[in-house]
Amino acid sequence: MAQKILVTGAGGIAGVNFVRAIRASRREYYVAGTDHSKYYIQFPDLQARYLTPRHDDRKFVGRVSEIARKEGVEFIHPQPSSEALVLSARRRELPASVLLPPPKVMTVAQDKLETQKVLAASGVAVARTRTVRRVSDVEGLFKALGSPLWIRARHGAGGRLSLLCGSPPEANHWMSLWLAKGIAIEEFIIQDYLPGRNIAWDSIWWDGRLVTSYCRERIEYPFKHISPSGITGTPSVARTIRDARVDGVAEMAVKAVDRRASGAYSIDVKEDEDGKPCVTEVDAGKFHSTMPLWGYVAVRHLKLPWYSNLAELYVTLGMKGKVRGGIPAHDLIPSGYYLIRNIDSGVLLWREDGWKERVL
Ligand SMILES: Nc1ncnc2c1ncn2[C@@H]1O[C@H](COP(=O)(O)OP(=O)(O)OP(=O)(O)O)[C@@H](O)[C@H]1O
Ligand SMILES: [Mg+2]
Repeated sequence: MAQKILVTGAGGIAGVNFVRAIRASRREYYVAGTDHSKYYIQFPDLQARYLTPRHDDRKFVGRVSEIARKEGVEFIHPQPSSEALVLSARRRELPASVLLPPPKVMTVAQDKLETQKVLAASGVAVARTRTVRRVSDVEGLFKALGSPLWIRARHGAGGRLSLLCGSPPEANHWMSLWLAKGIAIEEFIIQDYLPGRNIAWDSIWWDGRLVTSYCRERIEYPFKHISPSGITGTPSVARTIRDARVDGVAEMAVKAVDRRASGAYSIDVKEDEDGKPCVTEVDAGKFHSTMPLWGYVAVRHLKLPWYSNLAELYVTLGMKGKVRGGIPAHDLIPSGYYLIRNIDSGVLLWREDGWKERVL
């Protein structure tokens, strides 16, 4: 009999990828999905689709519970971090299980200032990070830290409020503009600029133990020329890499944020000018948007074992509470594979030697 699950935020890029990966698993699943966009909920391959209010609406949890009950699902995967945090905090009200870190852990992980503090205290390499009380204080930061500096938001996704600033006036203008638009000054963090490789480390954990992981370098973002920082959230070109230093720092970062990590943890790593990997974000309880797509590619195109489909591995852990051994802890996906994707252009898997397969 098909196992029944509910995916919230199923219409976003990550949600669509997650549902597709579940469809590519060994067993049959009945997948219901929700989103607050009546447009994007049309995308995923679902047996039932529902609209919900946004995560900050007081009816959100009640509506998700009602749908889960009606559909008889056993497991709920909230894809967007905002929805995951609310559902983690109110998991007792849900009629199905979730595989999410406690809300305390997720709250730290969703605050990039707190994350940097926790990581630094545990000896994990991070960029020096500062905040200011007044915009005019940035001048002092340029004197203390040097130039350029990277400004970004404490909360949110997609490189929110990011800009590389080469001088105090640039930083001043950027922050003042956002302050005028109602952003609080406490929302900004100002950091050393990390100019090296941009790396995503994707992992699954169980009870404080790393089950499996792999990493990939983000090479290009779509529409980068129309974003002031060049960051637009999900890469149009990425390639799998192997790097024991990245594995080491990312694993330490997860342990620093959550001593009993269980479920999905997506880590962002950026190298400094000496090539040292520094952690810029620990997404606790979250799939990076292409993590399930890489899993789909792993089983469908690279013919890797079922557990390489991380969405299936995660749902199996969430529903059964265990998984058999023998799964490699690192480098789950071989290095040198590129995922090339763009709007209206599809998705390609490619290698430098010219080998190519169409994924979507
Ligand atoms: N100090 C820094 N120096 C240089 N680049 C940085 C720095 N901090 C972050 N970045 C770059 O910005 C990207 C986005 O980071 P940020 O935390 O602002 O957004 P995000 O929450 O990761 O967004 P999403 O995960 O949705 O893409 C990082 O992956 C990294 O490439
Ligand atoms: Mg990120």
